[in-house]
Amino acid sequence: MRVLGIESSCDETAAAVYDRSAGLLSNVVSSQVAVHGVYGGVVPELASREHLKSVVPVVERALSDASTGRDAIDGIAVTAGPGLVGSLLVGICFAKSLAFAWGKPLYGADHLEAHVYAVFLENDVPFPYIALLVSGGHTSLFRVVGWGEMKFLGGTLDDAAGEAFDKAAKMMGLGYPGGVAIDRIGREGDRARFHFPRAWLSRESADFSFSGLKTALRTFLASPEGKAARPEDVAASFQEAVAEVLVGKALSAVERERVPRLVLAGGVSANSRLRDLALQRGAAAGIGTFLPSKALCTDNAAMVALLGERRMSAGSFSGPDLNAYAASRFTR
Ligand code: KG4
Ligand code: ZN
Repeated sequence: MRVLGIESSCDETAAAVYDRSAGLLSNVVSSQVAVHGVYGGVVPELASREHLKSVVPVVERALSDASTGRDAIDGIAVTAGPGLVGSLLVGICFAKSLAFAWGKPLYGADHLEAHVYAVFLENDVPFPYIALLVSGGHTSLFRVVGWGEMKFLGGTLDDAAGEAFDKAAKMMGLGYPGGVAIDRIGREGDRARFHFPRAWLSRESADFSFSGLKTALRTFLASPEGKAARPEDVAASFQEAVAEVLVGKALSAVERERVPRLVLAGGVSANSRLRDLALQRGAAAGIGTFLPSKALCTDNAAMVALLGERRMSAGSFSGPDLNAYAASRFTR
């Protein structure tokens, strides 16, 4: 089956074509960073308007890159949520119209599921596995037992890991998007130079908390030591605090659930220190650690097309009443 995927949940308009036997045929992402950068974060109304401008050219490009026309497409998958509702509605409305005009089946994909299964674009990971999903809006651990079968093990009690990166970068005057900036300058810094708090909560807890770390960074930056510190060292030390908690808690879940495989997913899993630490500690623990390539960690439509292909092949479709949803469907 060959599926056109469309993603518009936040500030990236994306389209991709995935084919079960030929693999990923195209993957187009149009970023809105330049639009939101001046505001230091995503402005929802501007995001919707940008999606409206970009969705047609992005889909056209994905089809032409894949040398695929209407006849070769067997289904259309679109992100239905969670995300910014105004942004989601643009993608959903466009996908619905295309499915109607072309007479093709439609699948409304869950954005979190799409991230968690993105690894299959490059690797055949045996089920079950533990997934650490770390993005701008979510930080969660799942036990993944099959397609569409994920059990929520825990999540953040306050900020998401990506949010922590973005807020830290803003405090340090590094601009938006912050995660990438901290990653870039952190490579030149000493990660043991400063110690920032790690919120482990209880040992058994699969929950996360990053608000204390954020406050600690703010207090540090206002102190004489913080004012004199090299930004590279602050970025590296902050990044280390986030990465250690993420990897530590993911490996505890692996042990508790007795599942010898860990998959990283979501935008923050593009972070180079998090990737190195996960591979290193995963190898030391004797488990398989799987990381999608960086472009498949951040928002993209390849993961939406793949999930849509698997679910539609298994007989799961959405009706013409498909609607957007803002909040995660995975709760404790
Ligand atoms: O998955 P994603 O693209 O969008 C959401 O679903 O939220 O994740 C975006 C988040 C942002 O907070 C961004 O700062 C963070 O991922 N991010 C990174 C890196 N690349 C993106 N954080 C740390 N290091 C990176 N290299
Ligand atoms: Zn995402």
